[in-house]
Amino acid sequence: MNPKIVFFDTTLRDGEQSPGVSLDLKQKIEIAKALEELGIDVIEAGFPITSPGDFEAVKNVAKEIKRCTVAALARANQKDIEVAWEAIKHAVSPRIHTFIATSDIHLKYKLKKDRSQVLEIAREAVKYACSLCPNVEFSAEDATRSDWEYLAQVVIEVVKAGATTINIPDTVGYTVPQEYYNLFKFLVEKLIAAGYEEDLKSGRLRLSVHCHNDLGLAVSNSLSAILAGATQIEGTINGIGERAGNAALEEVIMALKIRKDFFERSLGYPLEVNIATEKIVPTSQLVSKYTGMLVQPNKAIVGANAFAHESGIHQHGVICERTTYEIIKPEEVGWTGSAIVLGKHSGRHALSFKLKSRGWQFDDTVLTKVFEKFREEIKDVLRKIDEEHLEGILLDLFCDKE
Ligand code: KIV
Ligand code: ZN
Repeated sequence: MNPKIVFFDTTLRDGEQSPGVSLDLKQKIEIAKALEELGIDVIEAGFPITSPGDFEAVKNVAKEIKRCTVAALARANQKDIEVAWEAIKHAVSPRIHTFIATSDIHLKYKLKKDRSQVLEIAREAVKYACSLCPNVEFSAEDATRSDWEYLAQVVIEVVKAGATTINIPDTVGYTVPQEYYNLFKFLVEKLIAAGYEEDLKSGRLRLSVHCHNDLGLAVSNSLSAILAGATQIEGTINGIGERAGNAALEEVIMALKIRKDFFERSLGYPLEVNIATEKIVPTSQLVSKYTGMLVQPNKAIVGANAFAHESGIHQHGVICERTTYEIIKPEEVGWTGSAIVLGKHSGRHALSFKLKSRGWQFDDTVLTKVFEKFREEIKDVLRKIDEEHLEGILLDLFCDKE
């Protein structure tokens, strides 16, 4: 048996930690429902200990959501874990997600504890969480700046204590794809040596990837971890999150879907991506509206320009055969279609296509004239010309003739 990839969305928790973002209860429930419709497996609804508002939001999301696991975050202490459990205990499928840092930097300056103390805290926290909830995830915060042998020791101890998902976060977006790949390979080998091969293969035990985007590598790093054996991916819609954000889940999903062939060949087993990808754009727009975080136009998949073509060569290609310059059907992710944008790089094919799609018939001489006028206007005044304006150019030319 081979495990399916679990998609874990933390828009409502890590995403809401974006500077300046604050979602109210109604908005959180609406986003959670959109994530459920999208087919996300796990929704991290919040960090209940942090405020009564967060607690209420997690509790309500847990009540409303029926087809996803609902996770609540807790530091590795009894109080946090108790409160997290209180918030999610009525969910159809609850998960406690507890974490503690494992890097020496965090141990020394933040936790002021030594390695053996942190190991003990992690073990006890997981044991306690497992006494409340059958589904427990443990995160080794700042895993990528941790000593690998020590990290492996913590991982094995928390698995023994009952955690079934072990997250290896790149908390500060520090790692690079090949290094992260090697780290996951290293941990998989350690788990196999400790007797967990069957659990990993069956999905009873999962390694999870959680990447931040400080070096712009969050999606790449996430995909590398998948190739090395991670079977849960954590991310957010539109890649929102602390500082430069988290891995953009829509990008990871589409990379796995579009390059399924490559991932299946590399992994040696079939990959399931059971996501209603046509709901990606509406979900992205909902998150953008409620968080107030605009999506950059050139953002992959969900940016306004992701399926827009401006240059003559590309437009000609796409008009003749879409796949020349598009690897995804725009409708597959929820756009209504590709956009042929009339700009200074556009050519005669695009103009002809636009006018014909509005019902005009004309010969080459007319097209040449329209094109000349279009070039003049785009050079002197405008950066983009819309279809009505183009039609106006054509009408003016006809009028001139009369
Ligand atoms: O980035 C991080 O390390 C986290 C953990 C709490 C999972 O968000
Ligand atoms: Zn994070």
